[in-house]
Amino acid sequence: MTILNIGTKLLKLNGLPWTLLYTLYWSFRYFLKIDSTGLFKLLLKLEEKHDLPGFNTPVTAGALWDLLPWEKEHGEEWTVSAEWKQSLIDEVLRKYIRRGAAVLEIGSGAGRWTAVLQPLAGKLVAIDVSSRAIALCKARFATATNCEFHLAGNIDLGFIPDGSIEAIWSFDVFVHINPEDTDRYIAEFKRVFASGGIAVIHHPKKGGVHGGCRSRMTDRLFNAMLEKHGLTLDAQFDSWGENGRFNLYRHGDCISVFHA
Ligand SMILES: C[S@@+](CC[C@H](N)C(=O)[O-])C[C@H]1O[C@@H](n2cnc3c(N)ncnc32)[C@H](O)[C@@H]1O
Repeated sequence: MTILNIGTKLLKLNGLPWTLLYTLYWSFRYFLKIDSTGLFKLLLKLEEKHDLPGFNTPVTAGALWDLLPWEKEHGEEWTVSAEWKQSLIDEVLRKYIRRGAAVLEIGSGAGRWTAVLQPLAGKLVAIDVSSRAIALCKARFATATNCEFHLAGNIDLGFIPDGSIEAIWSFDVFVHINPEDTDRYIAEFKRVFASGGIAVIHHPKKGGVHGGCRSRMTDRLFNAMLEKHGLTLDAQFDSWGENGRFNLYRHGDCISVFHA
């Protein structure tokens, strides 16, 4: 799908005012190097008022993420520092995901966290909407016998049996998924959770106001969705490590840990 095709799809889904405003926002970012929070807030208001999917739609997500130069840095361009990454692994990922668990990773990208989950998991099922990302992961983990990768557009987890997943991990993904689709994912989490299953999901806390292509999800909305689907929140935090040394303040995100 070309950029023009993606643009046409976004126009169809969101209408002319949203598309014009969105083009203006990206023109500011691209040509003037200005990430206008004001324009972004206006976009979010428009999305909320008219219940629009915005930028992060299941129809366009795969094509958009396929445009990324995945082979260059394998997603490590989003790693704040080696120390930050290690502490997220030691103090969050390993804290909640037990060795030998049947793990589901949503949005594996080029495998930045998959590389940690794969040796830890008894079985690992990873999905992504980007066919290029999935192809990269299949090649990267070709010799691992405990993992499988699926191209899964449209929140299609139907191939995962009920009650078969003991841990779910997703980082830097739900910040790009709109609230309606997040709700559909959460419903699926409830279905695939094994007894005692736990999920660790990174998502926006403040509704994408920090710009970029972030979802308008908030912590309150996320918690309401958990409640609606009968899931229990165990922890929600935006910093970790000694004295909250590492945090997700920059983009106004948080991590939610919940169980069935
Ligand atoms: C910023 S990248 C992060 C990739 C990886 N989790 C990492 O941290 O390196 C966002 C990823 O989310 C995937 N993604 C976006 N929307 C998705 C959706 N609705 N379902 C599953 N994956 C999605 C993209 O294809 C991309 O691989």
